Amino acid sequence: MNIAIVTGASSGMGKAFVKHLASEEDARLGAPYDEIWMIARSRDKLESLKEEICGTKTESSGTKTSAVSDSSARKALLRVVSLDLTDPSSISVLSDMLASEKPTIRLLINCAGMGRNGAFAEQTKEDTHSAITLNCGALSELTNICLPYMIPAAASLSKQEAPRILNIASSAGFLPQPGYAVYAATKSYVISFSRALSEELRGKNITVTCVCPGPCDTDFIKLSKNDPNATFTGIKARFVTTTDKLIPASLKATKKGKSMLVYGLGQKALHVASKILPTRLILFFERGV
Ligand SMILES: NC(=O)c1ccc[n+]([C@@H]2O[C@H](COP(=O)([O-])OP(=O)(O)OC[C@H]3O[C@@H](n4cnc5c(N)ncnc54)[C@H](OP(=O)(O)O)[C@@H]3O)[C@@H](O)[C@H]2O)c1
Repeated sequence: MNIAIVTGASSGMGKAFVKHLASEEDARLGAPYDEIWMIARSRDKLESLKEEICGTKTESSGTKTSAVSDSSARKALLRVVSLDLTDPSSISVLSDMLASEKPTIRLLINCAGMGRNGAFAEQTKEDTHSAITLNCGALSELTNICLPYMIPAAASLSKQEAPRILNIASSAGFLPQPGYAVYAATKSYVISFSRALSEELRGKNITVTCVCPGPCDTDFIKLSKNDPNATFTGIKARFVTTTDKLIPASLKATKKGKSMLVYGLGQKALHVASKILPTRLILFFERGV
């Protein structure tokens, strides 16, 4: 059984990834997943997403198919896996699922992430623990338990069919970010980890792509500021992208075997600046914006 695993599937980018992958399957465009495992805490949101995907499309490969058979086929494709990835037992649950199903993992998208805005001194230790555990620990451990279901199959697959890992970092990981100190540090970890893993797996026909978006129109900012009306402000507001653009670009990058996608001109400029300018100069500039 060939599967794709998407964490953070209940919302924002992860949800958009699932929709994209499910529609690729529908159109028989060469994404041969027998199942897509959708991971997040919110079971109700994952079930709604499944219903949304299963209940709409009635055409396949240019041929009309009945709503009933088409719908049930796609229901089998999407598996709801409701887990809190900051709970250590969740990795064991997934490990047991893998051991029992013995799938070939063709695509792992580590998308779940969170970060609290505000001065570090005002954050709770629970927030700090959750951000580090989810953004770094769960991402690494999930990758760890998935690799045994990728490496053996990879040897017999073509370059085009190679198993892929797609890690969602952030342009916040390029620099220290006062106001998002822990979050930015966790995303630096994701960048460093992904790039090292990409090199380690190069000879094994497995690609690792680290995606570094800037601000994107999801619930992230509302949750990070604990305000349902929060939006990006200041210079960030000028660079907000949408999942409609970001998700296809990310999948294209991983299919091409790119190890890194810095998405958007503004973020590319920030990336270059972070490599050539002294950090204290950038921090001075950050104070002004
Ligand atoms: N939006 C941006 O501006 C932006 C920019 C750069 C990078 N990113 C990164 O993009 C990724 C996706 O974020 P998003 O923008 O799509 O935000 P989002 O809409 O808030 O989605 C976050 C996802 O993570 C899941 N999640 C949160 N805590 C979890 C936990 N303890 N266990 C399991 N799943 C958990 C959430 O599902 P449940 O709540 O149902 O668990 C949700 O599906 C994150 O890694 C984020 O850091 C976002």
